[in-house]
Amino acid sequence: MTIAMALTKGRLEKNTIAMLDECGYGTEALKNKGRALVFADTKKDLEYFLVKANDCITYVEHGVADVGVVGKDTLLEGGKDYYELLDLEIGKCKFIVASLPETDLFNKVGQIKIGTKYPTVARQYFLSKGMDVEIIKIDGSVELSPLLGLCDGIVDIMETGTTLKENGLVVLDTVCPISARLIVNKAAFRLKRNEILDLITDLESVVKKNAASTQ
Ligand code: PRP
Repeated sequence: MTIAMALTKGRLEKNTIAMLDECGYGTEALKNKGRALVFADTKKDLEYFLVKANDCITYVEHGVADVGVVGKDTLLEGGKDYYELLDLEIGKCKFIVASLPETDLFNKVGQIKIGTKYPTVARQYFLSKGMDVEIIKIDGSVELSPLLGLCDGIVDIMETGTTLKENGLVVLDTVCPISARLIVNKAAFRLKRNEILDLITDLESVVKKNAASTQ
C-alpha cells in the first residue's frame, strides 16, 4: 500500500529530503520540483506532498496524508489528533522569550504585552509563571514588535540567534527545545501498520547514524 507523506516546505525541507535520501529512497522529483506539489518516490511505494507546517498537521489529521514531518513548534501550538512517533532530530531550534535589554520583563508591574506567532505556547508559558500577560498575535518578523513599542517582549523561535542579535534583542529564558517530528494518522497506523513501521525503522536508523556522527 502506498504511504502518503506530507512534508513541511521551507526550513525543514532540505534536511527532510536528505534524511529520505539516507534511507535510500528515490527523492529526485522532490529535488527538481519546479512548481509541482505532489511527487512520487522512484524507489519506494511512497508519495510526497509539500505543504506549510500547519497544513501538514491538517492533512495528517484528516487522513489525506498517512504520515507527516513537521516541527514540534507547530505541534505544540495546535493539533492533537495524531500519533507523534519519532523525533527526527533535524530542524533543531528552541522557543525563547526575548526583549530589549532595558525592559525588565519579569519584574514589570502589571500586565505585560507579548508578541508572538505562537499564542498558545506563549500563554501557557506565562501562565505557568503566574504572570499577567496580553498576547498579541504577529504573523512574521516578530522581532519588530518590541522595537516599535507594540510589545514588551516576544516568544519566538531561535535557531542561530542572528535575527535577535541584529535587532538588539536579548534572550531572557528558554521555553523548550524544538525539532522535527514524524506524525502518523491514527487510522492509517492500523491499516498500513507494516509499511509505516518500515518507514519508521528506516528513519530511525538515519537518526541514530546522524547522532553517532556528531558525537
Ligand atoms: C524565524 C523566527 C525568527 C528567525 C530565527 O522566522 O521567527 O525570526 O526565524 O532564526 P535565527 O535565530 O537563525 O536568526 P522565519 O525565518 O521563519 O520568518 P518569519 O519571521 O517571517 O516568520
